[in-house]
Amino acid sequence: MTLTSRNMCLKHYPKGMPVSDDFQMTTTEIAPAGDGEITVRNHWMSVDPYMRGRMTGIKTYIAPFELGQPMEGGAVGEIIHSGHPDFKVGDWVVSMLGWREVFTASVENLQKMLLQKIDPALIPPQAFLGVAGMPGLTAYAGLYKVAEFKPGETVLVSGAAGAVGSTVCQLAKADGARVVGIAGTDDKCKWLESHGVDVAINYKTTKNLTESLMKAAPDGFDVYFENVGGEMLEAALNTMKMFGRIAACGMISQYNNAEPAPGPSNLVMIVGKSLRLQGFIVSNYQEFALEYFAKLGPLMAEGKLVQHETVLNGIENAGEAFLRLFSGDKQGKMLVKLT
Ligand SMILES: NC(=O)c1ccc[n+]([C@@H]2O[C@H](COP(=O)([O-])OP(=O)(O)OC[C@H]3O[C@@H](n4cnc5c(N)ncnc54)[C@H](OP(=O)(O)O)[C@@H]3O)[C@@H](O)[C@H]2O)c1
Repeated sequence: MTLTSRNMCLKHYPKGMPVSDDFQMTTTEIAPAGDGEITVRNHWMSVDPYMRGRMTGIKTYIAPFELGQPMEGGAVGEIIHSGHPDFKVGDWVVSMLGWREVFTASVENLQKMLLQKIDPALIPPQAFLGVAGMPGLTAYAGLYKVAEFKPGETVLVSGAAGAVGSTVCQLAKADGARVVGIAGTDDKCKWLESHGVDVAINYKTTKNLTESLMKAAPDGFDVYFENVGGEMLEAALNTMKMFGRIAACGMISQYNNAEPAPGPSNLVMIVGKSLRLQGFIVSNYQEFALEYFAKLGPLMAEGKLVQHETVLNGIENAGEAFLRLFSGDKQGKMLVKLT
């Protein structure tokens, strides 16, 4: 029996801000799994900001997407055919073959990227693309391993209402931090404050971000979790304490720049305040996944850490879901439900 998959591909590499015309749908026939292979029906797929870096046609730390081919990214699905003894029909898996409804692939090749069996009865399966997946581990690694956050410190988070940021805020709060979050709408700020964030600042309406941060944390910040860059990094540098630590997780305000952005005008503050600024990539922190899950499980069970999410339905809306990462028209983890 042959199956059909609708897939989302790139028509051309976006110039500047991506638009819906950069994406195109294809339909392909999928043969059922042969020896050593599994066929998976994806139920959920993730869109993530790092994918913009794969839409440039240039190899960075990861290869670019091929034009006209289904893109790749985190997905959760159910095995519907199996030719591999370790994977049974009905098992659920996380793979990196998102942006498509169905795929058949060899277990060996899937394992080179990511292939993880999950139990969808444990937590909602889409959480494995959010708090219990790559964004969650990013939050944990950046906060505890890179910034070396210690319970009770004062933490500043930009992109605070997003997938990574909302997890950072909740982890830090659970460890007794004073947390100040920066986000782009009043609704996002309300959500943050209703989940324990001490002060949430709407950077689009505040008159002076540095002054707002000084008011929210008069003694300054021990840790800054950087998701955005630009004016947020400048304001953070202005308000860090002596010996503060900055985990540079991402700088989404710069991903669509056609021209290089100007550097922070106050970078010199790193010297006087003896700050440490360290970038990181989550794939270099996989060894801490089990340690993170051991912390996450009880926090989720106690309701102290929740997955905040926005869901669009259907592969045909996957491009739109991706665009919303940059318009900010979503709350928490942006997901596409495929079934
Ligand atoms: N280092 C790593 O290994 C790693 C892994 C995962 C993610 N990241 C990075 O972590 C950051 C957050 O990722 P995420 O998956 O959690 O995404 P996300 O925060 O869920 O979504 C992106 C958010 O960024 C904000 N944003 C978009 N364009 C902006 C701009 N020009 N200026 C200011 N804010 C803007 C929007 O929120 P507002 O409405 O608040 O503006 C938007 O909702 C990104 O920089 C991403 O690249 C890094």
